[in-house]
Amino acid sequence: MMNNLTRKLTGRYSTLLCRYIAKTQEEVLAQANGLGRAAMTGGLGVLDMARIHQTSMAQLGCLAEFRQSRSAVKRAVETFLLEALSPFEMTYRGFQETNTRLQHLIKDTEKTNLALQREVDKRKQTEKILRARESRMHELLEQSRKLQENLRQYSKQILYIQETERRRISRELHDDVGQTLTAASIVFENIVSSPPGTLEASLKDARALLQDATVKVHDFARDLRPAILDELGLIPALRSYLDRFAARTGLHITFRATQHAEALGDDEKITLFRVAQESLTNVAKHAHAHTVQVTISASGGRIRMDVRDDGRSFHAQNADQVAKKHRLGLLGMQERVRLVNGSFTLLARPGKGTQIRVTLPCQVPVGGPGSIKIKSKSGAQI
Ligand SMILES: Nc1ncnc2c1ncn2[C@@H]1O[C@H](COP(=O)(O)OP(=O)(O)OP(=O)(O)O)[C@@H](O)[C@H]1O
Ligand SMILES: [Mg+2]
Repeated sequence: MMNNLTRKLTGRYSTLLCRYIAKTQEEVLAQANGLGRAAMTGGLGVLDMARIHQTSMAQLGCLAEFRQSRSAVKRAVETFLLEALSPFEMTYRGFQETNTRLQHLIKDTEKTNLALQREVDKRKQTEKILRARESRMHELLEQSRKLQENLRQYSKQILYIQETERRRISRELHDDVGQTLTAASIVFENIVSSPPGTLEASLKDARALLQDATVKVHDFARDLRPAILDELGLIPALRSYLDRFAARTGLHITFRATQHAEALGDDEKITLFRVAQESLTNVAKHAHAHTVQVTISASGGRIRMDVRDDGRSFHAQNADQVAKKHRLGLLGMQERVRLVNGSFTLLARPGKGTQIRVTLPCQVPVGGPGSIKIKSKSGAQI
């Protein structure tokens, strides 16, 4: 079924085609082209144009003539038809070009999208790393804050302990040595005014008092810094200390040590001595123990000291809280050991005793396990 436009265009097409067959003029071709554009603008397609062409040929009675006609007529009809179709062709080409350009554009956009996606992934990764670093930094800051806080706490405790120690020494010097010396000077005054017969007894009293004062001063000196440690070494110093400690407290102490311990440096030796001192003091103060074993052994190039008691022990997790209450013993031991690159462990088994273990590196090569050489001569007691 033909609509108005098709009918109108068919009539025009027939007219123009006849004119062109009669005389092949460019001007007619231009009009054929115009007709094609009009058809396209009117919404007709290539098939409609083919139908218009066929109808025109039939209407004009050209079809039969065309079949038998010479090739010039055939060429003219062909040229006319192609000209009428050329707007469609142009549009199709334009469409194709636009399509190709669009394809390129899509590809470019895809590439850009891909690059963008990579950039986004990269940034996400960087963000993740940054977040991890930030949280690590927070952790470190928190650690450093805690360390600072601990340090402040330690400093306060050290000052407190120093003050307490000074007070103790001052009191003991005043009460013990001071009073003994005062008594001695009173005895000397009496000697001056006493009759000649009583002189010997008074002198004996004075000598006893002076001897007493001398022993006390020696004890002080030994507690503050045992000279024997520098002169004879760690093992004799410890043995002497443990001896006096056992006598003073009634604890049953066994001491075994390897001679290799004497290869340690001065700092390491005083560290072991002070750890033993504090551990023993703790046993006497807190443990309610009967026996203590102090062992120094050598193994794998290291020197190890164990102090083990059979007392009631304590809950190790409370040690931190205890540390906040001006307690410096355990913290001080750990700190001393850390300063000489050693390791400190405390094994607290409530009801079954406490074990303190210190392991120190030794510059001089020392023997393998079980190289304990010295056993206290003073038998079971030390
Ligand atoms: N051998 C032990 N047996 C039982 N409890 C112990 C022993 N050693 C330590 N403790 C417990 O651990 C706490 C902390 O010991 P630490 O040596 O740090 O402090 P302190 O002895 O109380 O005081 P300071 O040593 O500062 O004079 C003690 O108060 C005690 O409760
Ligand atoms: Mg203590």
